[in-house]
Amino acid sequence: MQEVKNIKNILENIDKDHFHLLTEIGKISKEINQKSYLVGGMVRDLLLGFDNLDIDIVVENNAALLADTLVKKFPNCELSAKHDRFHTAKVIFHINGKKIPVDLATTREETYDNEKLAPLPEVTISELKKDLIRRDFTINALAVSLLPNNFGEIVDLFNGLDDLRNKKIKILHEKSFIDDPTRMIRAIRFAAKLNFEIEEKTQAFLKEVIESKQFDNLIEKIRGDRVKIEIRYLFNLPTIENAIKIFFESGVYRMVNTELAYKEVLKNRIKKAEEILWDHLDDIAEKWIIYLGLTVCDLTNSQKESVFINLHLPSGEIKTIKDGLKAGEKLQEKNIDSIKTFQVLKNHSIESIIIAKSLTQNNLIDEYINKTSKIKLNITGQDLIKLGVPQGKQVGEILDKILELKINNPEMSKEDEEEEAKKLILDLR
Ligand code: CTP
Repeated sequence: MQEVKNIKNILENIDKDHFHLLTEIGKISKEINQKSYLVGGMVRDLLLGFDNLDIDIVVENNAALLADTLVKKFPNCELSAKHDRFHTAKVIFHINGKKIPVDLATTREETYDNEKLAPLPEVTISELKKDLIRRDFTINALAVSLLPNNFGEIVDLFNGLDDLRNKKIKILHEKSFIDDPTRMIRAIRFAAKLNFEIEEKTQAFLKEVIESKQFDNLIEKIRGDRVKIEIRYLFNLPTIENAIKIFFESGVYRMVNTELAYKEVLKNRIKKAEEILWDHLDDIAEKWIIYLGLTVCDLTNSQKESVFINLHLPSGEIKTIKDGLKAGEKLQEKNIDSIKTFQVLKNHSIESIIIAKSLTQNNLIDEYINKTSKIKLNITGQDLIKLGVPQGKQVGEILDKILELKINNPEMSKEDEEEEAKKLILDLR
């Protein structure tokens, strides 16, 4: 990456509505005597040559005023949220059929009261440097001026540009991971995603926190859903094998469960899941749940339960993992045939099926995915009721049995199915 001091030319090449918006926000800021800066992931990614249109702006020193002025000046701008306590606001622009959200935050200094249980930062108004130093890494603490006189100029107070060039993830101060332990997961996420290294001292601080006596206390203080959000990002990365490797080698796995282990068998399962997923790219948006399932596979049931509780997983996600692990176990038994595979996998989500497939050598799972799961009956529950089956669970049981017969004989017509149904009804009587 070349030495850059101004990214106006890069901004001119992003989507033209976003570019226009940024210049307008800069002009309005000037009119109301505010300084506004683009910050965070968008700056980082644009400098790295990636697309990122998540507009995060810090305003020196009144985000609410800028938000109100934007809403007044632009009929296509609506106020979507305003948090007086945190001095933040969110507006949404409606431009050419697009919704463009813009997050606005007042430059602020956060102090964390580490004595309290769930630490919410105390916010006091301050200037840009104090705002940037409260952020996670130097590469995320770059700001770009939006004012018309120096539009695009980079404010680099912590050598973030050097770290971008040298591919380093570096915290801004030694308390960073204690202030916000989810940053430990973010550190490895950015390392795995960008193929960066965690800078030496940052690594040492991370290790110190992970191994410290207060670690359990710290983890208890963060809301589980925040850990889940970061784990989800991490396990959704395309570079999953590397992500899992760093997850274990850094010790960050301890944030999920201290008993997890990076064994050969886990590496192989992850690799296998990755290969299987290649055939299902269109079906699966959230592959992280598959990798989480495989990662917790060898924990005891009660350890698994505590992972689910700690990560605040909703019942649907817990079911996906449990179904997948259980099916994986069953399909390793002897004498498994197409019908048994069907019985084990029916009604399971594709994510559960991929967990199961990553755990076994059972080739019949492919047959289930590609063929048996697609077989449909012509006969319906209503038809069975007409034939005299009482409404209730027997209807489903008979339909299942006919479906099993059809797996071995896919050419069955509706008449054939009715014949089989009649036989089954007689057997029941
Ligand atoms: N941030 C932080 N500590 C966190 C989360 C976020 O300091 N635990 C700061 C960082 O400066 C980050 C910015 O808030 O750049 C925006 O956060 P977020 O949108 O979560 O991350 P991005 O950096 O935008 O990354 P991504 O593009 O992956 O969303």
